[in-house]
Amino acid sequence: MKYTTKTLNGNFGILLDGVTRCDLENREFQTHAYDLWTNHGGLLAVRGDDLADLRPEELVAWSSVFGDVENTKMAARESKMIPGFPILRIGNIKDGAGNRLAQFAKVPQLQSDDDVRYNPETRRPVWHTDSTFRRNPPIGSVFHCKLAPPEGAETLFADTRGAFAGLDEATKSTLEPLEAVCSLAHHDKKINRYSPDYPVLSPEQRAANPPNRVPVVLTHPVSGELALYGLNSSTCAVLAKGQALSDEQMDICDLEGIEDKSVLIIRDLLPYVTGPEFTVKWRWKVGDVVAWDNRCTIHAATGFDDQQYSREMWRLTLLNKARAVDHVLS
Ligand SMILES: [Fe+2]
Repeated sequence: MKYTTKTLNGNFGILLDGVTRCDLENREFQTHAYDLWTNHGGLLAVRGDDLADLRPEELVAWSSVFGDVENTKMAARESKMIPGFPILRIGNIKDGAGNRLAQFAKVPQLQSDDDVRYNPETRRPVWHTDSTFRRNPPIGSVFHCKLAPPEGAETLFADTRGAFAGLDEATKSTLEPLEAVCSLAHHDKKINRYSPDYPVLSPEQRAANPPNRVPVVLTHPVSGELALYGLNSSTCAVLAKGQALSDEQMDICDLEGIEDKSVLIIRDLLPYVTGPEFTVKWRWKVGDVVAWDNRCTIHAATGFDDQQYSREMWRLTLLNKARAVDHVLS
């Protein structure tokens, strides 16, 4: 094993460069990588010329080091998945007939490093934790680059563990007793407001997908460290733990897609959390595999010139891993 190790921003994020597909299958390397991931704020990248040819089964095996790879079929996305594997293709690639082969969403390209920091006026970049509206939100994701444009399409990561540690004690005490109310109906209606083709939940679907509540300050089950948590497009209110949102407030949140102003207590922190002290701007090279931990990071996508260039990424979702519990107990 001949790779070099480089931290990305202080103690946040780590890159192992010169990694081979053989390394990824090595148990010792896997254990080392998992520990590095945990100790560097839940952001680990592996890079190497050999990884450009990584096969789907190899990527699934490597991803399983960090969590249980989610294997449920997403019917709506099936045509965008690698056949037979729980891998979603993301990007602007098309087949010969012009049909999209991957999930694609246009987002603004970064114009300067200043654009990394969350801008409260534009609400961009869209920094978030994935899928907090789900009963058991995914613990992380793995992203693998198959085709990269020469510029743009960086993925942004912020260290919510470091950011929480840097807050004053009064702010920490204000945040710790809070919960974020995360609702799929709110998420879908919010997107529908600016993209009218986006479907909203039927009353039946709304009843079947009640809001999920997550702590605003999450204790990481492996490291035991505290991190800011719970900001997603589905976050419609922030309340004291156990405090109920009135039916009227819930209707406004879900049916009109309007966020309660209580969410500002987290959103107002975003310019601080996404400043240079806590962020990594990841510029993709073909073959890169990045694993991130949703429990102590937030992330944001950035755009590229999709008329001129092609991009293809493979993405897997990680659920809670029994091994993480072993780590806590050992
Ligand atoms: Fe995301």
